[in-house]
Amino acid sequence: MSEDLREHLQRHREEIEGHLQESLRPQPGCPDSLLEAMRYSLLAPGKRLRPLLALLACEACGGTAAQALPVGTAVEMIHTYSLIHDDLPAMDDDDLRRGRPTCHKQFGEALAILAGDALLTMAFQVLAESYPAPTAARCCVELARAAGAAGMVGGQVDDLAWERQPGQGQRRLDDLEYLHTRKTGALIRAALRLGVLAAYAERPHDLDPEWLARIDHYGHCLGLAFQITDDLLDVEGQAEQTGKRVNKDADRGKLTYPGFLGVTASRQRAERLCDEARAHLSPLGESARFLVQLPRLVLERDR
Ligand code: IPE
Ligand code: IPE
Ligand code: MG
Ligand code: MG
Ligand code: MG
Repeated sequence: MSEDLREHLQRHREEIEGHLQESLRPQPGCPDSLLEAMRYSLLAPGKRLRPLLALLACEACGGTAAQALPVGTAVEMIHTYSLIHDDLPAMDDDDLRRGRPTCHKQFGEALAILAGDALLTMAFQVLAESYPAPTAARCCVELARAAGAAGMVGGQVDDLAWERQPGQGQRRLDDLEYLHTRKTGALIRAALRLGVLAAYAERPHDLDPEWLARIDHYGHCLGLAFQITDDLLDVEGQAEQTGKRVNKDADRGKLTYPGFLGVTASRQRAERLCDEARAHLSPLGESARFLVQLPRLVLERDR
């Protein structure tokens, strides 16, 4: 009988927490206040979806979870920096994150911005120090592309630019998907892709491009579905569960799936995307079984 997905994820979550802790040790030159703010946000109780995806993708390709821990940590650092900045008054202006006051509420805006900067740069240091040079370089390039101007940051810029736009009504589903694909999807795809690269860190020439492409398509669909469920949780969720304020997107005039399609059609779209995600993996067989099961959790999540 196949091992229960939840148990498997719980074990991996513990390994990930350990690696995140290890990665933020005091170092000469790093002010205590900065380290405190970085630890406050990174070690707060996030779901760790992106590192989990990296570990599962690595296992699906015959690697061990441990091989993907540095990749998972790097992606979680970038994700956490993006949340710190996303919550700033100049962006979404939120006061609650991962069940705690947001970083700028706790430490002030200047230190929050700098803690984000430091997590962003440390992510690349972790990659560069953890893998043989060719794999490290490729991971750095892929992560930079996903997180940068044409990826997550670009998506965040459009997210803000399209807030309360008088012409928002003329936006199409394609615009919404393009936004979500970059602001959330790009990093989720990168987590999976880097998980595959980690599995082949010692023998990159053996990497099968077909497997990478399949896991990439899976990540594209899962990333979109994940942001749709994030938008749905803003409408239907409770702050006690999500650990962040709800009912904020409509107030801010955000372009979201429920705002655009309504709740029912948004949920159907997320379900279809999860079916599509799974279908991309079917030829990979037993080793990808946990990745195949995971979209169900994304659809059912309440946080
Ligand atoms: C929230 O991400 C922001 C989005 C990109 C949708 P998560 O829902 O993964 O947040 P944490 O990491 O669990 O706090
Ligand atoms: C954020 O999207 C995506 C990021 C790149 C951080 P949201 O603004 O919807 O995320 P939440 O709802 O604040 O977590
Ligand atoms: Mg935002
Ligand atoms: Mg936000
Ligand atoms: Mg949201």
